[in-house]
Parts: sequence; structure tokens; C-alpha cells
Amino acid sequence: MDLGLRGRKAIITGATRGIGRRIADLLASEGCDIAFCARKAEQVAETARDMERHRVQIHGSVVHVRDAEAYKAWLEGAAETLGGCDIFIPNVSAGGGMEGEKSWYRNFEIDLMGTVRGCEALMPALEESDGGAIVFISTTAAVETFLAPMAYNAIKAALITYAKQLSQTTFRNNVRVNTVSPGPIYFEGGSWEQIRADNERLYNSTVAQQPSGRMGTPEEVARCVAFLASPAASWVNGVNLIVDGGFTKRVQF
Ligand SMILES: NC(=O)c1ccc[n+]([C@@H]2O[C@H](COP(=O)([O-])OP(=O)(O)OC[C@H]3O[C@@H](n4cnc5c(N)ncnc54)[C@H](OP(=O)(O)O)[C@@H]3O)[C@@H](O)[C@H]2O)c1
Repeated sequence: MDLGLRGRKAIITGATRGIGRRIADLLASEGCDIAFCARKAEQVAETARDMERHRVQIHGSVVHVRDAEAYKAWLEGAAETLGGCDIFIPNVSAGGGMEGEKSWYRNFEIDLMGTVRGCEALMPALEESDGGAIVFISTTAAVETFLAPMAYNAIKAALITYAKQLSQTTFRNNVRVNTVSPGPIYFEGGSWEQIRADNERLYNSTVAQQPSGRMGTPEEVARCVAFLASPAASWVNGVNLIVDGGFTKRVQF
């Protein structure tokens, strides 16, 4: 199946490692031009260099999503540099943590406002596309009780509701909005590698809850994001796609 991604223009936040990196790689390998950001200059440069092998436009920038002004300026500049924007993937998260209000504000500003501000800044460009697509990255920790009553879980849940309601208003202008909610995903340099080192019991009990007996991979999430972002998913709007190998136990009607 041809996903129809060749020549499309994608903007992805947080694409130097993990899920975001695989999304960027996969979209580039399908022929998309890419603009991405992250905070560490060295990793932005390394990622941009590595992705040049796909022979598409690659623009990496050092941007902190929490810096609202710089973030908005980067998004608008990226759409201009690419010559438009067909796909927006706000992938950055502040991650989990139980540091009281500090965690709540961090997740609010980075996970939620990073996504809201991104959609608002890029909507004019997305509406110019012949099929704009936004894919939010939430988590299964938003849909089932997980670990602790963390800001991360609750704020990621807010993203799912926002995506659904936004999708009702944007499709009239040919912009679809969907969410992908991954279960635990293991990769080198990622949070589950850290958890494995710091708390092997938690890591092992999480793997034991996986029907497959293993963690998911960034590639397995990226493939679902690429489909939802593509013209091949033209009639998919407002869904929350759980990508967890059956990790969550609820029955989803
Ligand atoms: N890993 C999992 O098990 C899992 C499970 C469910 C959902 N998710 C979700 O998937 C998404 C990606 O997570 P991940 O675990 O693959 O990767 P990650 O380790 O959270 O890193 C993601 C990327 O974001 C960049 N980044 C982080 N904070 C940033 C900021 N404030 N401004 C700009 N860039 C920033 C990082 O580079 P710099 O550090 O250089 O900025 C990196 O390129 C997140 O939304 C996460 O909540 C992950």
C-alpha cells in the first residue's frame, strides 16, 4: 500500500531519540521533508546528518518547547522553510515525576501547551494543505491506572480529549487530528532503560504484564503514527489508537 507520503512536509517536536526519532526517520524514508527540534545541539546536528541519507529536506533546530515565543517562531519558520506543513507531530513530553506542583506545571507547559500552541501556530499552514494531519502522542498511562497519580498521566489524558474535540472543528478545513497512545516502549537512552537500571523489579513486573513478554519498540509506534499522518488514513479522524501489544487490560468498545 502506498501511504502517499512522498513530497509531504512534516514538523516533529523532539526527534533526536526514541519514538520521535523513529517517526522522523520513517516519514523521511517515505519521502517527506522534515523539520524537527530538540534541546541538545549536538544531538540535533547528529540526527540531521544521519537523516540526510533519505535525500529529502531535513531541518534540525535547537528549541525548548517550554519557551513559548521561541517555539512559535520556530514552528512558523519551519513551515516557511519547508514551503508548507502537511503533518504536525507534537511528540515532546516532560515525562513522569512526582515533584508536586513542579511536575504539574512542567507537564502542563510542555506536554499540553506545547501541543496546543503548536496546533495554533501551524493551523493556517495545515489548512493550506490538501490533507493536513496532526497526530498527538499520549500514553496508555492516560487511559488506565499506572504506577502513581502523576501529573504526566492526567495531562496526557487531557491531550486525548483535546484531540477529539479539535478533530470535530478542523476536518471541515481538511485537517484530521488523531492520537497515538503507546504502552511502555524500550530503547537505548530512554526512560525504560533508566527504570531497568534503577528499579529492576518494576521493569520486570511491567514486562510480565505484556502479553508478548517484551517491551514495545519505537519503530512499532512510528509505523502507526506514519499511517495516521498519511493520506492513506483520510477517513480516520478523532481516534485514540492504543499501541501497546495488549498491555492495557480494559475492553475497548
Ligand atoms: N518511552 C515510552 O515508554 C513512552 C510510552 C508512552 C508514551 N510515550 C510518549 O512518547 C513521546 C516520546 O517519548 P520517548 O520516550 O520516545 O522520548 P524522550 O526520551 O521523552 O525524548 C523525546 C525527544 O524530545 C526531546 N525533548 C525533550 N524535552 C524537550 C523540550 N522541552 N523541548 C524540545 N525537545 C525536547 C529530546 O531531546 P533533548 O533531550 O535533546 O531535548 C528527544 O529528542 C512522549 O510524548 C512520551 O510521553 C513514551
